[in-house]
Amino acid sequence: MKILTVVGARPQFIKCAPVSRALRKEHEEILVHTGQHYDREMSDLFFQELDIPKPDHNLGIGSGTHGRQTGAMLAGIEDLILKETPDLVLVYGDTNSTLAGALAAAKAHVPVAHVEAGLRSFDRKMPEEVNRVLTDHCSDLLLAPTETAVANLASEGITTGVHLTGDVMVDALLQHAEVARASSALANLGLERGHYRLATVHRAENTDDPARLAAIMRALGDLGNVVLPCHPRTEKMLKNAGLYEEANKRIRLIPPVGYLEMLALESGATTILTDSGGVQKEAYVLGVPCITLRETTEWVETVQDGWNVLVGSDREAIVRAAHGFVPDKKGSDVFGKGEAAAEIRRVIREYFGG
Ligand code: UD1
Ligand code: UDP
Repeated sequence: MKILTVVGARPQFIKCAPVSRALRKEHEEILVHTGQHYDREMSDLFFQELDIPKPDHNLGIGSGTHGRQTGAMLAGIEDLILKETPDLVLVYGDTNSTLAGALAAAKAHVPVAHVEAGLRSFDRKMPEEVNRVLTDHCSDLLLAPTETAVANLASEGITTGVHLTGDVMVDALLQHAEVARASSALANLGLERGHYRLATVHRAENTDDPARLAAIMRALGDLGNVVLPCHPRTEKMLKNAGLYEEANKRIRLIPPVGYLEMLALESGATTILTDSGGVQKEAYVLGVPCITLRETTEWVETVQDGWNVLVGSDREAIVRAAHGFVPDKKGSDVFGKGEAAAEIRRVIREYFGG
């Protein structure tokens, strides 16, 4: 069968690495990069490190407002669907690239498979929540990472085509954590395991509100030993808000890092402070306490199991949580055991009657 996969943003490259490898054992895959992320350290670096095949097509859409970016992707992907006539379109996660891929396929009457179906924050102000809901409602195969995701879909009336597969990010993590830990990544940064905190910040709700961004950055500065690989969106917004110099003095801001370096940084940190979806899960799987700089999370299991606390953007609350948070029990394999890609391959084979 011919599968057209759409990716475009950093976490999608990581998610597609194990799945692509599994699917290519028995299907033809056409890999489409929308160009949503384009800086070397947000895109090419991941293709190199994770040995992801070179995209067959790069739409080069780049940045823009939601409507312009998603609309340009929609038109570009539609052209490719008409040209390639795939049997299935595969999309990942909750970005604008995800929605554009799913919508283009559904309108062309090509079945859609959604990896990471059923996640909900129940906050429709998040662009990702809109993308998740709409993508799920036009998908034929809903590849859900957790029981919670399956239940979320059921509560919206979606039960057909739903499969509990586990989380593909666990596959990627388990495949790379050992090499990452054994690497010289920490030494190269002059860091010692257990002597720093790691932070990431990039959500629109945090970066696009100068007051929230300032409060978060000041809290991280108060903690004193924070390393923050800085997403280009965050760097831009810090500069626009006149906060960059202050933040750069009090926090160790470094450019975005590759996946192996990131896993090494996560593994060696005493605490992770983040608003990333993927990083919350990685903290849980690696057993590092996580403080989430949001009011909601899709990954509720990390909170229920006591490894993650939601603190939002209040300066004092963040500092208090970072000093006082001691997880009460070890994480479980609620996100799967690293076999999600194989399960997705099995589900797709079954879907095609194999
Ligand atoms: C996107 C996703 C978000 C995901 C994140 C992963 C949407 C709506 N959001 O957010 O769900 O968590 O990717 O990292 O799809 N920029 C660069 N270089 C790049 C990419 C972006 O400079 O290679 C800058 C541009 O100024 C751009 C801004 O970052 O306007 C935001 O990029 P965009 O892709 O729109 O959203 P993200 O914040 O990256
Ligand atoms: N990541 C990375 N380098 C960084 C920051 C994040 O490799 O500088 C990885 C991280 O380990 C995780 C994924 O990118 O696997 C998460 O992506 P991001 O935080 O951009 O998006 P989200 O998961 O919130 O959609």
